[in-house]
Amino acid sequence: MKDSHLRKDRRDYTKGELLESEVPGNPFDLFQDWFADRSETGRPDATAMTLSTVGLDGRPDARIVLLKGIENGGFEFFTNYQSKKGQDLEHQPIAHLLFFWPEVERQVRVVGRVTKLSYERNSKYFKERPVGSQVGALSSPQSRVLDGRSSLESTVQANLAKYGEEGPDCPEFWGGYSLVPEEIEFWQGRSSRLHDRLRFSKSVSGWKIERLAP
Ligand SMILES: Cc1cc2nc3c(=O)[nH]c(=O)nc-3n(C[C@H](O)[C@H](O)[C@H](O)COP(=O)(O)O)c2cc1C
Repeated sequence: MKDSHLRKDRRDYTKGELLESEVPGNPFDLFQDWFADRSETGRPDATAMTLSTVGLDGRPDARIVLLKGIENGGFEFFTNYQSKKGQDLEHQPIAHLLFFWPEVERQVRVVGRVTKLSYERNSKYFKERPVGSQVGALSSPQSRVLDGRSSLESTVQANLAKYGEEGPDCPEFWGGYSLVPEEIEFWQGRSSRLHDRLRFSKSVSGWKIERLAP
């Protein structure tokens, strides 16, 4: 991609505004409203979010995962606990979630501490997934180097034959995390780069709301 092409990717943001006088006092309510707006656009992957972690070597890492729900004040996602992200979170259980919803010209940034969900929760969700996904999760040593695709496919075939229609039990190495936010920033694109940014920070007395310069 040439530099000149990158420079042309410029537009004005005019789809909404974010005013202190109109936001709910609780960021979860605002997130739900914005999520509903995004879902109504009919575009796929509304739940896709970037999960950023910090590695043992202090380097940041990021990848997309799916938000599976918000329960007990935590944003929940599921993965392989032995994956790169799982190892990062074991070492440094703080993570950052980022949602970018271009159709509504919005961005949401969430930072907080992460804890593992219980085996009971993991198992319940695992068994709700199609058997193919259960076997896929069991068979893939996520983030490890493979000899090639065929070894993975043979493991999947062997596990499909072994577990049949019932599917396997949820492996101990697979499950969910809950990220309980300490800060959530909502960004609404505005005209002439004068975007609205409201940051909710958790304090002992509730959520503090501050406007940040765009
Ligand atoms: C749209 C989309 C959704 C994804 N959802 C998940 C997910 O929910 N859980 C997951 O472990 N990986 C998911 N992935 C794959 C991850 O981005 C990543 O490749 C994988 O988790 C390994 O990451 P790691 O090596 O950093 O641990 C998804 C990828 C995309 C593009």
